[in-house]
Amino acid sequence: MRRKKLIVANWKMHPGSMAEARSLFGKTKRAGSRLEKVETVICPPFAYLGAFAHGGTSRVFLGAQDVFYSNSGRATGEVSPEMLRDLGVTHVIVGHSERRALGETNELVARKAVAVLAEGMQAIVCIGEKERDEGGAFYETLKVQLKESLQGIARRFFIDLIIAYEPLWAIGKSAKEASTPKDVQEMSIFIRKVLTDLYGKEAAQQPSVLYGGAVEEENAGAILSSGGVQGLLVGHKSLDAEAFARILKSANAV
Ligand code: PGA
Repeated sequence: MRRKKLIVANWKMHPGSMAEARSLFGKTKRAGSRLEKVETVICPPFAYLGAFAHGGTSRVFLGAQDVFYSNSGRATGEVSPEMLRDLGVTHVIVGHSERRALGETNELVARKAVAVLAEGMQAIVCIGEKERDEGGAFYETLKVQLKESLQGIARRFFIDLIIAYEPLWAIGKSAKEASTPKDVQEMSIFIRKVLTDLYGKEAAQQPSVLYGGAVEEENAGAILSSGGVQGLLVGHKSLDAEAFARILKSANAV
């Protein structure tokens, strides 16, 4: 498991112009570069990636929000793992709930993760329940999602595997509506348990687990210190350079 906290900025389909993207990237990079105990990953939309090619440092990394599952074939509109690596991308999000909502299946997510890892990059595989039922059926949903989304990933790649737990009911909300640190801790234990059942104790310790969904300055530190996770996936607050810098700082202080 990683020593430093991993904080991932998922810009989604923002900002609306290259000029704004450059400014946000510069500010975030400066903030992240100062911190010894944090690895910051910035994931801009594909259209801006080229502008930041090899723009990372030993503390700030370039990430992508999606990828195609192969380096070859006829695939209009897609971007291959090889192309991303060539731009200096080191981390790739796969299976974000917004991609899954457009029809991406666990099987497709697994193929993408395998392709990302084969290219020597780290794969951030997202899972998360739509809602919670009192009977706890969502645990089974998550277990299936995890099992199927990791299908075909060899244990030797686990060190580069990152699992992002992002409950859909929290995404885009404010900190008050996010999972509590206690809930996050319970889910991180549950994810490790599922991994242990599937792959054995030793392998199950290797992937990092992140939390995402309504992470703001108010809850970032608490989730990191008592949620049992190794990092955070941040959406809307990663577009506010000052707020995101404060999230990074609180991660550095944990
Ligand atoms: P949010 O998004 O931080 O805006 O809730 C997180 C995500 O969707 O990755």
